[in-house]
Formats: sequence, C-alpha cells, structure tokens
Amino acid sequence: MQTDSLIKKRILIIGSNGMLGQRLTEFYSSKNKVELMTASAEDDSFFPEINYEKINLTDKKQVKKLISNFYPDVIINAAAYTNVDKSEIEKELAWGINVYGVEYIAKYASSIDAKVIHISTDYIFDGKSGPYEENHRPNPIGYYGRSKLAGENVLKCSNCNYVILRTNVLYGPAKFGRPDFVKWVVNSLNEKQNIKIVADQINNPTYIDDLVQAVSKVGEYNKTGIYNIGGPEFLSRYDFTLRIADFFELDKNLISRITTAELNQTAKRPLNSGLIILKAESEMGYKPHSIEDTFLLMKKELKL
Ligand SMILES: NC(=O)c1ccc[n+]([C@@H]2O[C@H](COP(=O)([O-])OP(=O)(O)OC[C@H]3O[C@@H](n4cnc5c(N)ncnc54)[C@H](OP(=O)(O)O)[C@@H]3O)[C@@H](O)[C@H]2O)c1
Repeated sequence: MQTDSLIKKRILIIGSNGMLGQRLTEFYSSKNKVELMTASAEDDSFFPEINYEKINLTDKKQVKKLISNFYPDVIINAAAYTNVDKSEIEKELAWGINVYGVEYIAKYASSIDAKVIHISTDYIFDGKSGPYEENHRPNPIGYYGRSKLAGENVLKCSNCNYVILRTNVLYGPAKFGRPDFVKWVVNSLNEKQNIKIVADQINNPTYIDDLVQAVSKVGEYNKTGIYNIGGPEFLSRYDFTLRIADFFELDKNLISRITTAELNQTAKRPLNSGLIILKAESEMGYKPHSIEDTFLLMKKELKL
C-alpha cells in the first residue's frame, strides 16, 4: 500500500469569500484527501462548517501566523484588491494587498516548502495586440495591472515553488457577494432594464469552475511557472451579452453597444486583450467548457 494515499494534502485558500475563492472552497471541501483551511478579509466565512480565519494580507505577522500554524502543502492565493477604478485612488491599499501580501505569502511559503498557486490577470497587458501568450511582454496601463504585475514579479524573484495562473473576465455560479456579469445581464434584462455594453473590449471570458479545474490540474501535474487560463472563444463584451440574451431567451433590443471611451471610467482598460490557453491545454489537459455549456450549468445551479 502506498503511504501517500493515507496522507491528506493540507490546502490553504486565501481570499475564500471572493468570487473565485468560494468556488475553490466548495471544490476542495468535497475532496476526501484534503485538510482544508480558508481565510479571507471578513469576520465570517460563507461556509461556517469549514475551518476559517479572518486575515489581513497586508499584515505580515498575521500571514506568518496563518501559514506557520496551519503548515500547508499548497497555498492558493485568490485574494486581491480587484476594484480596477478604485485602485487608481486607493493606490497604497491596492499595492499592500496585491504586492506586499504576495511577498508575505511567498516568504512564509518558502520557509515551509509550500507551493503557491497565485491568480493574475490579462490587465498586466496594454490590450494593443492581444490575445496574449504567456511570454508576451507586459505593459500595464492602469494601477491595478501594475500592482498585479508587481505581485507576479515578487513570486518570480522569491525562493518559492510557485504557479501563476493568469485569467480574464471571470463569470460563473458564485452564490455569495456581488453578482457576476452573466447574472447581472440576466437580472437586468428580466427586469426590462436597458443596458449599455462595450463593443470594443475583446477577451475570452473564463468560467470560474474552469479556473478551479486549472488550479486542480496544477496540483495533479505538479506544474510550475506561468499558465494562461481562459475560455474557448474570443469575443467582445457586447457579443458575449448577446449570447447570454440568446441562451436565456431575453429581449436583445434592451442591449445597446457603446465604446469604452464613452464610459469615461477612472482607469483605462486593455481593449484588444484575451489569453491564449494553448500551453495549459497541451501541458496539463486544461479543457474549458463551451460558452453555452457554462450558461446551462449556471441555469441549473442558480435556477436562472
Ligand atoms: N473577476 C475577474 O474578472 C478577474 C479577472 C482576471 C483576474 N482576476 C483575478 O482573480 C483573482 C480572484 O478574483 P475575484 O474576482 O474572485 O476577486 P474578489 O471577488 O474581489 O475576491 C477577492 C477576495 O480577496 C479578499 N481580500 C481583499 N483584501 C484582502 C486583504 N487585505 N486580506 C485578505 N483578503 C483580502 C476579498 O475580501 P473583501 O471582499 O472583504 O474585500 C475577497 O474575498 C484575483 O487575483 C483577481 O485579480 C479576476
């Protein structure tokens, strides 16, 4: 008998109350051979039955205590300062979470030889020549992207065993917190609200559970380095919205197209973006669902 099969893997999810973090928590809590610890910024977890600690990633001592007490084999960092516009104003806070927080995780992970799986973004690129491969030269055009790129660089310069999964436009059936883009579109159109959607931002939107699948495959294939994780199709946000309306049989006349410039947002957005996923497909068998399959899964799970 292999002794390995008797040992549970100790997995720590940081940012467990976030959109991705809650799906990771649901996924790993259903695995027999996992000893799970979750941590996020709020007082309470959405999953009271699962081990949870409140953590402020910008506090080095708290990060040290969390990691050295639980002694994980794997740390998944799904926490981040994610408000793209507000990060232009709350720069110190964004840097504290997206850069120093990652530095503290890397420091204490390497001291116990834990692997770090960190989530990054296509916002490290300028959106002039997407979609992007893993080795394309980053050139962030906003503070959020700059902080996320610096977080990546912290890991690259550390002694720790890390994987960076870059992703874009997450959507899916996270049950708690703010609604994702698909749920927002479905709710708005159901309520007969007119919505204006940008037609000049191109991505390959990522179903959250496909990203969860990728995190799991990183462990399965013992990968290191950088992998792009996205959906199977590149399309504008406007076209994505039409696909939502088609699938859920909602009134497409309520959807109008606008440009990003018309929105006049605080932070600039990469326009021609998206992430080429060939490396993840070929090296670890990553296989995203089709867009319509993801809508079907959401319809069943969220009763949309
Ligand atoms: N959503 C997307 O479309 C998208 C696209 C590309 C990449 N990503 C990346 O994917 C990852 C997950 O994104 P998400 O959409 O799931 O983010 P999210 O829903 O905003 O969740 C982030 C989590 O981090 C927690 N957090 C924030 N500050 C913290 C701190 N100081 N200490 C500890 N925890 C803290 C948040 O808690 P609070 O809620 O209390 O702040 C929240 O639970 C991030 O790395 C993000 O950059 C996301």
